[in-house]
Amino acid sequence: MRTIEEYIRLAEKAVGSIKLPKRPAGLYEPITYGLSNGGKRLRPALLLAACEAAGKDCTAALSQAAAIEMFHNFTLLHDDVMDNADLRRGKPTVCRKWDNNTAILSGDTMLTLATQLLVEGVAPDKAARLLDIFNRAAIGVYEGQQYDMEFESRNDVTEEEYIDMIRLKTSVLLGCAAQLGAEIGDAEEQQGMALYGFAMNLGIAFQLQDDWLDVYGDPAVFGKATGGDIMNNKKTFLLIKAMELAEGNDKKNLQYWLDIKDADPEKKISAVTAIYDSLGIGDICQKSVEKHNAEALRCLGKSGLTAEAAGFFEEFDRMVMNRKK
Ligand code: IPE
Ligand code: IPE
Ligand code: MG
Ligand code: MG
Ligand code: MG
Repeated sequence: MRTIEEYIRLAEKAVGSIKLPKRPAGLYEPITYGLSNGGKRLRPALLLAACEAAGKDCTAALSQAAAIEMFHNFTLLHDDVMDNADLRRGKPTVCRKWDNNTAILSGDTMLTLATQLLVEGVAPDKAARLLDIFNRAAIGVYEGQQYDMEFESRNDVTEEEYIDMIRLKTSVLLGCAAQLGAEIGDAEEQQGMALYGFAMNLGIAFQLQDDWLDVYGDPAVFGKATGGDIMNNKKTFLLIKAMELAEGNDKKNLQYWLDIKDADPEKKISAVTAIYDSLGIGDICQKSVEKHNAEALRCLGKSGLTAEAAGFFEEFDRMVMNRKK
């Protein structure tokens, strides 16, 4: 196994070597912009590492690493339209720098480029298996994103429904990265299952943490405007817990801010955050992050992976869990 930094560097290189046509510039420039703005490259790094954990040199998987990062960035272009987001990785989102139509069409192009990269130079039977893994995850993401939107206008979303939603919108893509890497590396079934379980549970912890950072992160580091979830009435873990625990004035106030249309963003965000603070919601969320992360680590324990590989994924896990952006 190599170091995490090395997998990230290889992922970066794989993304950097994607060749795009020049014209129409209005279609391709937003793709280059979206791809080159300093993402963490977690999914391609995970894919490459899973391939090497199975015993194959990960240079065999560079095109698939580029594919999964391309797909991830496609989902971000569309997600920022759906979430009406201004900032991504500290810069204006594609839908702001250009417009929604651009984000939709450049995003569509990225999805197709991702499937091309996925099967580039791969024998037909292997390509069919990679496509099957990839397509199932992609449909999962769309289903999760649909639930995420539907939940905005519902006030009775349960914690269980929320976990199912983030399993779809976020975890399945991390799971897919692990599965693709394992498939390319010809991993044994037990190894592949363990890596998938690790990545899926890490994905849950990761999205819970993303929800926490959306309220409590440092905007300068996080790279996204904090409070976006509050403005959109997103049924994050924090809001669901607050609705469950609030009583009296807190309950009335929370309902007021959920119902009000065209709220002043600064006022709404600070009022809802104050309710979270009074209920200790941030800590409750962190406990849930820890719970799901422990489950991820448990999967590594029964993996049949080498000690070196298991140690690597533990370190990967630590890096993800300590993230500030
Ligand atoms: C953002 O993912 C979307 C979520 C699932 C929360 P990342 O936090 O991995 O985004 P980048 O690629 O590093 O910017
Ligand atoms: C994850 O949810 C979105 C995707 C699956 C693309 P978010 O909407 O929370 O992601 P961010 O916070 O905008 O990155
Ligand atoms: Mg979003
Ligand atoms: Mg979203
Ligand atoms: Mg978020």
